[in-house]
Parts: sequence; C-alpha cells; structure tokens
Amino acid sequence: MPVLPRRTVLLGTLAGALAGALPLPEAAAAPREVLRQSSFPDPFTLGVASGDPAPDGVVLWTRLAPQPDADDGLGGMPDRPVEVEWEIAEDEAFTRIVRRGTETATPEFAHSVHAEPAGLAPTREYFYRFRSGGHLSPAARTRTAPAPGAAVPALTVAAASCAKFGAGYFTAYRALADDDPDLVLHLGDYFYESDEGDVRDPGGPEPTDLAGYRRRHAHQRSDADLRAAHAVAPWLVVWDDHELVNNWAGADRGRSPLRRRAAFQAYYEHMPLRRTSVPRGLDLQLYRRIPWGSLATFHMLDTRQYRDPRGSGGSITGDEQERWLLDGFRTSTAGWDVLGQQVFFAPRSGDGHKSDTWESYPDSRERVLRGRLDSPVRNAVVLTGDEHVHHANELELDDRPAGTELVTTSITSGGDGDSGDDSGSGDDENPHIRYREDRRGYLLTRFTPAELRADFRVVEQVSRPDAPVRTSATFVVPDGGALTRP
Ligand SMILES: [Fe+2]
Repeated sequence: MPVLPRRTVLLGTLAGALAGALPLPEAAAAPREVLRQSSFPDPFTLGVASGDPAPDGVVLWTRLAPQPDADDGLGGMPDRPVEVEWEIAEDEAFTRIVRRGTETATPEFAHSVHAEPAGLAPTREYFYRFRSGGHLSPAARTRTAPAPGAAVPALTVAAASCAKFGAGYFTAYRALADDDPDLVLHLGDYFYESDEGDVRDPGGPEPTDLAGYRRRHAHQRSDADLRAAHAVAPWLVVWDDHELVNNWAGADRGRSPLRRRAAFQAYYEHMPLRRTSVPRGLDLQLYRRIPWGSLATFHMLDTRQYRDPRGSGGSITGDEQERWLLDGFRTSTAGWDVLGQQVFFAPRSGDGHKSDTWESYPDSRERVLRGRLDSPVRNAVVLTGDEHVHHANELELDDRPAGTELVTTSITSGGDGDSGDDSGSGDDENPHIRYREDRRGYLLTRFTPAELRADFRVVEQVSRPDAPVRTSATFVVPDGGALTRP
C-alpha cells in the first residue's frame, strides 16, 4: 500500500466541535506559535493507546507529559500548542508505513492527542507510534474492525475493571497483555478517586478539580503493566463511578457540577475516545455501538450519567439510551450481542445486593430483557465490572432463557481476595448464579460463530508484584444455548 501522508489539525477540528460547548480559555482565541523545536524532555511517559476500532480506522491516543505528577496537572509541558506526528505501519519495524498525520496538542486538553486516521483496511493488525519535539513514543499494536457483515472466524476479548492503584500491583493487566487479546473492554473504575494506598502510593490526595483528576490519570499511567495492556490491542472503555466520585448517579451531577466537569474533561483527555466524546457542558457522550462483522456487536452502555438517583422504579439507562439499545437489538444481525456495562445485572437479593446495581432498577432490567427476547438477537451476553468478584450468571425472563452475564473481578480493588467463600452474599442460594470467585484478575473470552468460551483469570496475590496467574474456571455458551461448564 502506498504511503499517503495526511494532515489533520486538531485545534481547528476541536474548535468546531466545541463551539457552544466548553468555553476555551482566553488565550486559545489568539493565534499562537505552534511549537516545533524540542524544548521539553521525553513527553511519552504515559505511553500510547488505541480504541473504538472501525472497519477503516481506529483512535490513536497519547498525551505529552514529561513530568506526569506536575502540580498544575499539565505534565510539565510548555503552555502552548505542540505538533505531534503519528504513523501507522503494517509491520512492527515500521518498514511498511501506510498512513501518517499531524495533530496539534493543546494545553486546553492537557496536550492529549486523539488521532482518528481513516482509509485503513478492515480486519487488519497495525502498529502505530508518535513523534514530538524530537522524541519518539513507544510503538503499539492495534487493529481495525471487520467490514460490515463480514464473516469472522474468531475474536478474543479481554474484560477488566476496578483498578485501584494503591490496592496492589497491576499483575492482572500484565497477564492480560500476555494473553494477546484482539480487543479489550474496560468496564469502569479505571482508577479510584478515593484510594487508601494500602499497598502503593495512589499519587496524591483525592482529586476534586481538573488538575487533580489529570494528575490521578497520569499517576495511573505510570504503571508499566497498565501501559502494556493498552499497547497490545484497542480498548473499548466505559466508566463507572470512581472516575468521578463514589456512587454518583445521573441527576445528582456528581455532587458538584464543577467537579463533574473536571472529571469528565480529564476522562476524555486520557482515554482513546473519538471526538464525539468531547465533553459538552456537563455531559459526555459515552454509550455507543461497535460492530464486529457478522460475529458480534458491542453495545457499550453508560449506566451512570442518565440514571434516576432515586433507584427503584426509575431508569438506570435513561429513556434515550434505552431506546437506542432496544433499537440495536431490533436491527441485530450479529451472532453475539454483547452489552459492555458497569454494574451487576442478574437478580440478586439479600446481603450480596449493592444498592447501585440493576437490582435497584428492576423495571429497566425487565424492559431490556423483554426487548432482547422480542428481537432477532441470537445470543445476548452481558459483560459487567464493579463487583470485585468473578461471576457467571444465567439471565431469564418469565422462565424463558434470556442470555448470559459474565462479571469480571477487579484488577486490584479489594486486595488479595479469599478464594471463593461467598461469605454471606447469598450467591450460593441464588438460582441465577452459577459461579463466583473472590480473587483479583480479569476475564478472557473467545467468540466464534459456534460458541463463546470464557476463562476466569485470577492472580494469586496483588499485595506483591509478579504473583502467579491462572484460570480458575472455564465456561462455554454454545450458539443458541445456555451456560455450561465443560
Ligand atoms: Fe470498583
């Protein structure tokens, strides 16, 4: 494929995207000299990432931050726009470069880069890297999605959530990277705003303003295991509560509008999200669909931003997102419809029931299950974070099988864990719950047209680095069938 240089100026695009939204600081209005000379140390300390693959492109992310923990949250960068080049190659040695471009990283977005190259080939592995101020970033791997409706023999997807930096070592992220998934779903609690630092320094006090949230994100990325997990495959990210504040819910605006705005801004800046997710006022568009040929469709949900804070009887998705999801079910032609979402979905009562899960929104849950059963959806799979305990659950409505829920445990939250004792959760008596395992880890799934195979991966300990990782259980869902343990 010939080299097709392409130039994109982020400043102009963002200015357009932001018209009538976030007010830019005064300085942004005046033309400023774009920095081309090297006048800062290696800015690629936070690594690189990619996300939201399409058949012809993928988001490429980095953020320039020579001093990640700088007090002002600006990473030690000069207060002016800086040009960042990116390139995409077919090979790891970058001998066959297929696309190049330039973005302008601005202080208003903490010198983050969200490049959206187009014109790539579907179902392909690519390598990418950035260059700025004479410095070269680490290279990483990504991939494009298959063409619409294309047959796909297999897809390996890892799912993770709940990475409290201070609670332990990110051995699970390292193992996830070693497992070489095609795609990674992050289901929320990317970091914790409140972190006791039991094992490691969480990187400063609880954030409440933009500088604080930027520092917290940068500190998270100081972990090499997390950077390795980002570098192995594109991610589809959704948040839960701790990216802002514990248990925030929709209309309560995250306790304070300024804090919410700061957390959303920093989240966008640090995640490989498309420009459609640039925050607008107090909102950030996060729910979205990522089709994967005829094999799977990923419906990534946001159960935080639009939920009714009153719980019972209210909606956990909001009306608009619910309609969007049910429309997606109605038009489904995929082998597997996968909901990537935050909180425990299956029915649950007793001590194990957390108040901010779908159990508090039973009408929402019923409408989603009914929408799925009244649609051409072949196989429904809910992938869930937040619980800090692995679960394999069967879903049903009116005694009709309605799908499978696989809950991934935490990367570190909760500490080492206690090997599956259900300690009063009531899960042992719950007919929906087929499996639980209370250790840290992640979920590794493999989708084929014939079946879904799920390995529950666990780390022996997170209180020390490099602990062993193993598969605690494997479950299979045959096409059109129910959860089985082979
Ligand atoms: Fe969590």
